[in-house]
Amino acid sequence: MADKEGIKIEKNYHTDVAFKTNGNFHVKGAANLDWGMKKHLTNIFNPKSGNTVMFAFDHGYFMGSVSGLERLDILIPQLIDHVDVLMATRGALRTCVKPNFKKGIALRVSAGSSMINEDLSREIISVNVEEAIRMNADCMAVQTFIGADGQLSSIDNLSRVINEGARYSIPTLGVIAVGKNMERTSQYFKLATRIVAELGAHIVKTYYCDDFEQVVAACPVPIVVAGGKKLAEKEALEMAYKSMQGGACGLDMGRNIFQSHNPAAMADAVGKIVHNKFTDKEAWEFFCEKTKK
Ligand code: R5P
Repeated sequence: MADKEGIKIEKNYHTDVAFKTNGNFHVKGAANLDWGMKKHLTNIFNPKSGNTVMFAFDHGYFMGSVSGLERLDILIPQLIDHVDVLMATRGALRTCVKPNFKKGIALRVSAGSSMINEDLSREIISVNVEEAIRMNADCMAVQTFIGADGQLSSIDNLSRVINEGARYSIPTLGVIAVGKNMERTSQYFKLATRIVAELGAHIVKTYYCDDFEQVVAACPVPIVVAGGKKLAEKEALEMAYKSMQGGACGLDMGRNIFQSHNPAAMADAVGKIVHNKFTDKEAWEFFCEKTKK
C-alpha cells in the first residue's frame, strides 16, 4: 500500500485539459459502458449540453417531513417540467409522481439512519436492483461516508449496488456525505470523490469547495453538485455558476429549490446556468424577472 507521506505530494491536475477518453459519448467516463448504461445516463445528462439539473427531494428518508416538502403531491407536479431528473425515494415516487412523467429518475436505495440518531453514517441497502428496475430507475443513489465511523459499511453498500446494477445496466450515483465534524475542503472531496469513482460509481454527487476544478479533474466520472442548506437565491445561483465553471456536469439541488419563494423559477434559473451558459448574474436577473409576474 502507498505510504501516507507519498500520497501527500500532489502533481499536476491538468485542469485546462479536457478528459481524454470520452470517445464520442457525452458523459464523462462512460464511453466504454454498454448500450443500456448509456441509455440511462442519457436520460440523466442532456446530450446537447452534457449536463443535468437534478431535483433532490429524498430528504424524508432520514429527516421525515422537511420544511418545503410537507406535501409532495402538491409540489412535485409543479416542478417536474422545470428539472431533468427527480432524485427521490420509491415511496415518494410511487405516491406523488404520475407514472407517465418523462424525466429521469435517481432512486434513493440506501437508508437506515434518522436525524435523531447520533451516528448517521451506518446505512443499509433498502431497495434492491429488481425494485429499481420496476421503478424504471436511471440510477441508484447510495450515501457514502468516507472517513466516518460507518465508512466500511457504506463502501460495502456502494459496492453491492454497483455490482447489482452492473447485472442490469443500471448506473450508480455515489453521494458523498459530509458528517458534522468533517471539513468541506478540496483535500477531503478529492479523496472521497476519487474513492467512490474508483469503486465504480458512474456519477458522484458532492459539494462545491475551493479548488473545485481539481476535484473535478481528478474524478473520472461526472460530478453533480449538491445544493446543501438554503442560501439566498442569488448566492445559490452564484454557487451553481462557480460549480459549472469548475467543471461540474450539473446540480443536484433540493432545499435551494423547494425552500425558495418560487421553486419553479429557481429551478429554471439553475437550468439556464447548467444548460444555457448563463452567468450567475444573468440567472439572477432571469429569476427576478420571473418572480415579478
Ligand atoms: C444528501 O445527502 C441527500 O441526498 C439529501 O437528502 C438531498 O439530496 C440533499 O439535497 P440538498 O442538500 O440540496 O437539500
